[in-house]
Amino acid sequence: MNTDNNLTETQVRKDDHIRICLDEKVQFNQLQNGLEKYRFNHVCLPELDYQEIDISTNFLGKKLHSPVLISSMTGGTENAQLINQRLAMIAQKYHLAMGIGSGRVIIEKPDIAKTFQVRSRSGSNRCSCPDILLLANIGAVQLNYGYTWRECLKLVEILEADALILHLNPLQECIQPEGDTNFKGLLDKIADVCEKITVPVIVKEVGNGISVTMAKKLINVGVKAIDVAGGGGTSWAMVESERSDNKLKRELGKTFANWGIPTADCVADIAKTYPDIPLIASGGIRNGLEVAKLLALGSDIVGLAYPFLKAAMTSIEALEEFMELLNAEIRTVLFCTGNKDINSLQNSDSFTIVKS
Ligand SMILES: Cc1cc2nc3c(=O)[nH]c(=O)nc-3n(C[C@H](O)[C@H](O)[C@H](O)COP(=O)(O)O)c2cc1C
Repeated sequence: MNTDNNLTETQVRKDDHIRICLDEKVQFNQLQNGLEKYRFNHVCLPELDYQEIDISTNFLGKKLHSPVLISSMTGGTENAQLINQRLAMIAQKYHLAMGIGSGRVIIEKPDIAKTFQVRSRSGSNRCSCPDILLLANIGAVQLNYGYTWRECLKLVEILEADALILHLNPLQECIQPEGDTNFKGLLDKIADVCEKITVPVIVKEVGNGISVTMAKKLINVGVKAIDVAGGGGTSWAMVESERSDNKLKRELGKTFANWGIPTADCVADIAKTYPDIPLIASGGIRNGLEVAKLLALGSDIVGLAYPFLKAAMTSIEALEEFMELLNAEIRTVLFCTGNKDINSLQNSDSFTIVKS
């Protein structure tokens, strides 16, 4: 519970988002992450010892014990701080990558930085994840509303992050009551951030997907990794529809509830055209079988937001239980497709995963 009565508009929005994602019907209302079109071919004689299956991998120079990212979610309020601390503990225990929620509010109100900070090399007791891959996050559109590479860099430094995510969310901004909808000239500004800041820049969507055409533009201006955040999971059109008091915006959000490129399609297309770009698959991923399908389709790691939020709101034990199951599911796919490690799954032949 928040005891601070002087919350900024951005802070109120952060708590609204958590509440609405957990309590309202804001998931895509059909199975639309695209993975339902794929199945693995079962290998009845894997010639492997299950105990020796290795699900670790490397991403942006860091070792992960499983190919999993806790997608960017929150920060800014006491509730958000508790969620971030729990997520960071799990990220450290299981050596996952972790995104922090959009940090624009830190620049507006620096005293709330602590609700985002999960790492500190300065010796305080916040050091819950000293060596995971930690990703700062801010909306790219803020580069049209007074923010520059300097604020981006400041955010990275305050959070002691290893990389910066710029998120693209045009549909969400259209429906958000206080949305920032001027996306003109943003590609040049993204290029400027890529050139000037000292850490890799990743671009992600928030659940509507990145096509291969858009990926090309982003890669050409210096973006170092793409997180497709495709359609099929949390619907930000619906989240903002739920938040709005305005009848038109509420209806607008409902019309676009299932808008977007399914996650599997984004991944298959981008991986085929840009096999070397570090690629994160996310958007509607709910179990380790889906994680494994996306690795086989060409992603390097896979991000989940809603399932981690749900477990984090319950307890650390719920997060541990979720991670144990996720890892077991990934490991089981490797075993039953005859792959000893993630690299082998990613480079397996066309027999491994097929369109059903
Ligand atoms: C409560 C909540 C807050 C979020 N806030 C952010 C954010 O600040 N920045 C961002 O890039 N994405 C944000 N997202 C979007 C997720 O990172 C993710 O792209 C999206 O929810 C789709 O993944 P999912 O279907 O696994 O939830 C948020 C998601 C949730 C559930």
